Amino acid sequence: MIPQSFIQDLLNRVDIIDVVDRHVKLKRAGANYVACCPFHNEKTPSFTVSQAKQFYHCFGCGAHGTAVGFLMEHSGLGFVEAVKELAQSVGMKVPDPRSEPAQRKAEAGDDLYAVLLKAAQFYRAQLKAAPQAIDYLKKRGLSGEIAKRFGIGHAPDGWQNLAGAFPDYNATALVTAGLVKANEENRRYDVFRDRIMFPIVDVRGNVIGFGGRVLGDGEPKYLNSPETPIFEKGRELYGLYQARRAIRDAGRVVVVEGYMDVVALAQHGIEYAVATLGTATTALHVQKLLRQADEVVFCFDGDDAGRRAAWRALENSLAQLVDGKQVRFLFLPQGEDPDTYVRKAGKAGFEALLKDALPLSAFLLRELVSRVDLESHEGRAKLLQDAKPLVKQVAAPVLSVLLRGELARLGGLDRDEIDRQYGVERRGERRGRSHFESRREMLVSNERRILQCLVFKPELHRKLDVRFGGHPSTPVELFLNDLIAFTRQSPELTSSAAVIQEFAGGRHDALLREVEGTISEWREDYDVDQELADAIHKVAISSQQNRVKELLSKRVEDWTAEERSEYLLLLQQQPLTAQLSK
Ligand code: GTP
Ligand code: MN
Repeated sequence: MIPQSFIQDLLNRVDIIDVVDRHVKLKRAGANYVACCPFHNEKTPSFTVSQAKQFYHCFGCGAHGTAVGFLMEHSGLGFVEAVKELAQSVGMKVPDPRSEPAQRKAEAGDDLYAVLLKAAQFYRAQLKAAPQAIDYLKKRGLSGEIAKRFGIGHAPDGWQNLAGAFPDYNATALVTAGLVKANEENRRYDVFRDRIMFPIVDVRGNVIGFGGRVLGDGEPKYLNSPETPIFEKGRELYGLYQARRAIRDAGRVVVVEGYMDVVALAQHGIEYAVATLGTATTALHVQKLLRQADEVVFCFDGDDAGRRAAWRALENSLAQLVDGKQVRFLFLPQGEDPDTYVRKAGKAGFEALLKDALPLSAFLLRELVSRVDLESHEGRAKLLQDAKPLVKQVAAPVLSVLLRGELARLGGLDRDEIDRQYGVERRGERRGRSHFESRREMLVSNERRILQCLVFKPELHRKLDVRFGGHPSTPVELFLNDLIAFTRQSPELTSSAAVIQEFAGGRHDALLREVEGTISEWREDYDVDQELADAIHKVAISSQQNRVKELLSKRVEDWTAEERSEYLLLLQQQPLTAQLSK
């Protein structure tokens, strides 16, 4: 792994304006630079790059990040590649992650990444010595070239083959990595035996797990690595690493169900396919894919199971939708999967199907309508009721309006009535951003103001009382808590970019985006110290007020001596008495 401190130095050294401008022509606008967003279609620029704070942020689609993140998303580079490219551009040298200590760790088997890489290399080498496995792959129409592209290997038959690949077969990491298990007598054995091995690779190019298929019939057909500290199925997509360039070039990504589907499609020249890992499609999957392509097509089998899986994918897509991008659904004919279909119909045949895939909105309406009787009032009422929770999640404003319009027509109500039923405030859609923002400004909590100040100028964490925080419960407090922990860990940290690099894409992502949106409008001479002092002061007042309220909820006669003196002390505090006398 590249050390955190190196990333921070790098982000201090590069200028995001140069980096972005090489790919997207930027125009100066006040304190920032703007352009039409490269991550979604738009006619007026809402893509903003802050030179002072070294981050980019799109007010339209929410894409955001640092120079490193930009290269990853825009050029489809892996993390390490992006860091290397940036480092090179400013003459810095990336510390070698394979330096001596890392090497030794790998030998000892402590490092999961190194263990899995070694296993993948072992399985690949074994494939050469397994004619029946090579035969199987050939029978399924795969060339050596494609097998190589996906690093396909073979786990030999036998119980302890990995002992030949690792000096210490008893290392815990082999178990943690999901490669080895122990039986009741505590004897260890290989999990994958006589299987075709598909390495699962993350976007940085690291092997993080495997899928293993039996060579013929046999149960289970596929054996997948368990989730480990480095492998989370809801985050990863099989084949994404190999597909990145093709996805960029095609502007499209196809999501299929199986390893073999991805590989067979690539064999036939459709290189922009990825697969979920035997699990449902998650919101994170969709978010990841929509960042990289304008069009995501989910491809499912035409049976009931396929339809159910498609519906799950639809539900998890709603909150990720962006106007100008498309999510579509392709249902294959009964009995076909992408692998069998592309083998029969070829690239052109499969792409013809893709062209006619059902838009998300059409699939949504079709499913909902099929569940009710549109001829009756009750049926139409049920349609509107069923659609409500789904439509309310739709994040793309234009699509949301269109869907509500269509539902109004189907349900026989007028638009305003639907919007009232759905609790949608229509004026909000027409109002310009500045009104919206300024109204929001007024509602900003003091904790949020503190958060904004800290992202803007991380070294200000020193101004916070060490006891600050306590029991975080709201999203803002939770983020604040994690941010303070992060800044205390690396006290020299002074850049917003380092904070954004750390938190973008994590669990505070949505909030971070909002904060960026606000601080990108602060001028460099903004008195952030004063802003922070004021917010801290107000937080103190309100916690005092809460304490007073708490005390006053008990009868004064019942107060303990401590509570009495605490109350007197609180009363002496200037701002509080001023507040109370109002
Ligand atoms: P082939 O028969 O090799 O063409 O595979 P397929 O991709 O057509 O398989 P299928 O549609 O049956 O399964 C799709 C995906 O579901 C696979 O790629 C696996 O990720 C997962 N899967 C299938 N069978 C099993 C199984 O028996 N166990 C587990 N854990 N996962 C499975
Ligand atoms: Mn198949």
